[in-house]
Amino acid sequence: MISAIVYNSKTGSCERYAKELSRKLVIPCYAQGSFRPRADAKVIYVSWIMAGKVVGLSKAVKKMDVGAVVAVGMAPAGKKAAEAMRQASGLPAHVGFFLVQGGFHIDKLPLPMKLIMRWKVKDIAARLEEKKRTAPLSAQEQATYEMAKRGDGEPAAWDVDEIVAWVMAEFDDEKILRQH
Ligand SMILES: Cc1cc2nc3c(=O)[nH]c(=O)nc-3n(C[C@H](O)[C@H](O)[C@H](O)COP(=O)(O)O)c2cc1C
Repeated sequence: MISAIVYNSKTGSCERYAKELSRKLVIPCYAQGSFRPRADAKVIYVSWIMAGKVVGLSKAVKKMDVGAVVAVGMAPAGKKAAEAMRQASGLPAHVGFFLVQGGFHIDKLPLPMKLIMRWKVKDIAARLEEKKRTAPLSAQEQATYEMAKRGDGEPAAWDVDEIVAWVMAEFDDEKILRQH
């Protein structure tokens, strides 16, 4: 059974995903640091990706029983990338690992991150601009392109249905209300 959703969010995307999961699964959600779980409490950990890594995950797995991870990044999300990230994070196969697209808001970032991302997004936008010349971009690629180009933007969708279905199948019990 999952007892809580714990999130780590810099600019709001992980918080939004955590709250959406909380609403659909009827499980409370907390910001990381504001929640001290019981030793036997299993949680879903939602955090953002920085330079290919899930921020705070190694600390989270030491302190909590993490049953699933939701990794939020501005890049298009794919199953192969999710599996590679799960393995690189050292998580066993039974831990659910979901990679989803979040937003990007350069103005909400602290200065050092803002500076890093200012040149990084130019590179991302140029790469997608190049791709656009030969093939249409997917909805997620287009969202990444717009975020990179403008320094601000939303993902193609805020969809948690796959995660909800996995949690229900994996931790099915009377505490989870079927809402959809
Ligand atoms: C310094 C920095 C590095 C980032 N690196 C990546 C990355 O490697 N891959 C990715 O998909 N997104 C990357 N992002 C984008 C964030 O993961 C994305 O904006 C996410 O939605 C932020 O979540 P939050 O709004 O909850 O903070 C990076 C953002 C910053 C500020």
